[in-house]
Amino acid sequence: MKNIVVLVSGGGTNLQALIDSEARGEIKNGKITCVISSNPDAYALERAAKAGISTVVIPRKEFGDSVSYSKAILAELDKQKADLIVLAGFMTILDKCVTEKYSYKIINVHPALIPSFCGEGFYGLKVHEKALEYGVKVSGATIHFVNEEADAGAIILQGTVNIENDDTPEVLQRRIMENVEWKLLPKAVSLFCEDRISIRNGKAYVD
Ligand code: GAR
Repeated sequence: MKNIVVLVSGGGTNLQALIDSEARGEIKNGKITCVISSNPDAYALERAAKAGISTVVIPRKEFGDSVSYSKAILAELDKQKADLIVLAGFMTILDKCVTEKYSYKIINVHPALIPSFCGEGFYGLKVHEKALEYGVKVSGATIHFVNEEADAGAIILQGTVNIENDDTPEVLQRRIMENVEWKLLPKAVSLFCEDRISIRNGKAYVD
């Protein structure tokens, strides 16, 4: 059974999707053992507590730079004996001291079709604002491995939604969450825990 550690910063609807999926027995060979939050006020912490999952808060604000913050995260991940780390609405970019040690063991959900609308500065609602501003006709979400470059690791799963003429960033965000993120993130987590994702030439394949 693999130890899954989930990193969060906000509302935690993706964390909730993972909790519900685990409760339904859909995460094969994995268990959420800890939730780490960068934000002491994140509602995600309440979701974890309600599900009986232990929580740790490592406030981003208490650290000057990304390297010292990442070192604190790394120490906690080691302590938790994490087999898989899931970034579920985690709004901090991790330094390579974490991404190298946990290479191909960190999964992120990004609310756009990578390589569009991604990279530094593209997070949360901003991603959807930019997609609508550009006028794309489909958007979606990407589940990918995390490496040292923001949103650039191997893609595991992607799903799409259509964009409607009267969409607002909030409406689009919700459509992508409901139709793609909350389904594909638990699916990718289960595939990882079942050892069904392999890496060939830097790309991820589901076997
Ligand atoms: C989700 O839409 C997630 O894809 C996005 O933030 C939201 C968090 O919601 N993540 C990023 O933008 C990371 N670059 P949640 O806290 O309700 O899961």
